[in-house]
Amino acid sequence: MPRRISDDIISKICDENDIIDYVSGYVQLKKSGRDYSGLCPFHNEKTPSFHVSQEKQLFHCFGCGASGNLVQFVMKTENLDFVDALKLLADRAGIIIPEDGDNFSDKNHEKKKKILAMNKYAARFFYDCLKDNGAGEKGRAYFAQRHIPMKTVTVYGLGYAPNGRDLLIKHLTSKGFSVDEIVEGGLAVSRDGRIYDKFRDRVMFPIIDVRGNVIGFGGRIMNDNKDVNGFKIPKYLNSPETLVFDKGKNLFSLNLAKNAKSSEIILCEGYMDVISVYQAGIKNIVATLGTAITEQQAKLMLRYASEILICYDSDEAGTKAAIRAIDIINNVGGRARVIRLKNAKDPDEFINKNGIEKFRETVKKAMPATEFKISLIKNQYDITDTEGKILFIDEVVNVFTKLKDAVEIDAYITKVAEDTGINRDAILSKYREKTSKNTYRKIPAKNEYQKKAEQRKRNNVKEFKATGSLIEAEKRLIGLISQSKKLYKITSLSMQPEDFSTDVYRRLAKMIFDSYKEDVSPDPAMMLNDFHGDDISEASEVFYNLEIYSGDEATVKELLHTIKLEKLDIRINTETNVSILTELFQEREKMLSEKNTWEE
Ligand code: CTP
Ligand code: MN
Repeated sequence: MPRRISDDIISKICDENDIIDYVSGYVQLKKSGRDYSGLCPFHNEKTPSFHVSQEKQLFHCFGCGASGNLVQFVMKTENLDFVDALKLLADRAGIIIPEDGDNFSDKNHEKKKKILAMNKYAARFFYDCLKDNGAGEKGRAYFAQRHIPMKTVTVYGLGYAPNGRDLLIKHLTSKGFSVDEIVEGGLAVSRDGRIYDKFRDRVMFPIIDVRGNVIGFGGRIMNDNKDVNGFKIPKYLNSPETLVFDKGKNLFSLNLAKNAKSSEIILCEGYMDVISVYQAGIKNIVATLGTAITEQQAKLMLRYASEILICYDSDEAGTKAAIRAIDIINNVGGRARVIRLKNAKDPDEFINKNGIEKFRETVKKAMPATEFKISLIKNQYDITDTEGKILFIDEVVNVFTKLKDAVEIDAYITKVAEDTGINRDAILSKYREKTSKNTYRKIPAKNEYQKKAEQRKRNNVKEFKATGSLIEAEKRLIGLISQSKKLYKITSLSMQPEDFSTDVYRRLAKMIFDSYKEDVSPDPAMMLNDFHGDDISEASEVFYNLEIYSGDEATVKELLHTIKLEKLDIRINTETNVSILTELFQEREKMLSEKNTWEE
């Protein structure tokens, strides 16, 4: 559940950000009439059809139909969801959004801001150290050896933490941070009463969230077999959990992957894997932060893609982790496939050995999750042997009990029957036996799908099809009543929100009606916040064309009449009962003559 931000705060955020000001950062806007216009950032064009209205705080492209308010502009350009887009705008305006559910400001807000600022300075410091001719040489040599050019270093903001006790601490204190704050931010550690830089003599990987904040770091040693006084020092060191860094809630490089706008995200294990694949041109790739994947991370990826391609290390640990990842992704309702790397331990090694084209081919061949699980079980048993077959089927059926889709279960049962020569019904009854033991996992009712389809069919037949002129009239009507209480009152005498023909119009009408009932003028930009996906344009268009809709009582009457008549025509076109049809025709005659009287 996305968390609910109160309307007060939303409206404060919208008030303190100006759409012209923000959009100007993306589009060169010129004043044209009452609006501003420019080249649309959402489609290719040579003449400007993208309009922004300061008055209404809305944008609209007459070319591609993209339309909405500022929050929706941010969602589209930054590929963020509603809450994150709001947060970005809140940050921009220095507004504090209260934490989950509670209505008080975040007590830790100031501290969080401080840690984020500190992290930014630290990232800059590491980057500068890497570029430094003297100290950075070692880090640069390491990246060069790993085939990472300076261009990639810049994209990821990679760096080098110099070898000293407190070089970063000194730098940060010079920027005004206290030593306690630096420890709390995870950049320094206290040991035996002394304070040290947490990261020393390591190449650094900043971890950046989807809003562009540096939330933590990973640091890698440059000499793999180094040990200190007989202790092997860890290859990677990560920032500890801080107020801004939660390893289970973030993913490395999601800030870049989300911009690839792909329907798939490749999930791998290591920072280096992500970087290698990204710089070779496949940008929809992320990694966990040194821990097993969590449901929160799965959900986070599924905000930006509909399918996760798991590309874990090819060793046994990687394979086991892949199985867990599948279950976690499936648990939160996502689909997963598995990329299997041959002759390389991880994606980074694979690309360096075989090149990106071979990697692309391997990605294309990603296995559906269930097939992957079955293939692993198959490797464990000899299914040419009777005993092997029995054990194999027993385990495979366990996999089936986790599936939710009846069709998928059915298809795999058939496949396993074919592969083993065991009767399909025998496998099915084994499956039923196991699922009935797990009472919480009922056998999926196959006919549920059928029922739904039939229901939909039935509804479609009944659902009347709104004509173009009906839609046009309703659109104009909503536009008009949103600007005038008087026009709303006239409308409310003969139409209620539920009488409009599309879901979007019904919702808009309800908001407008509710607003007037509470004696406040409806705010178009605010209302749009409740719409998602394609609905945004449909809703936004209603307000965008207000100029051409300038109208008064007569227009509203005319529109109401048109709407009634159009609806009547639809009924006439679908009615089969002759006596009802006759009545409908009579009603139509009456309506037309009424119109003639008030037009005269
Ligand atoms: N990791 C960690 N601490 C370690 C080792 C690993 O946090 N001591 C995490 C890091 O996020 C790392 C990931 O686990 O990126 C995968 O580890 P591994 O496969 O060992 O390293 P690679 O990513 O392959 O890195 P490299 O190629 O540089 O060895
Ligand atoms: Mn590696």
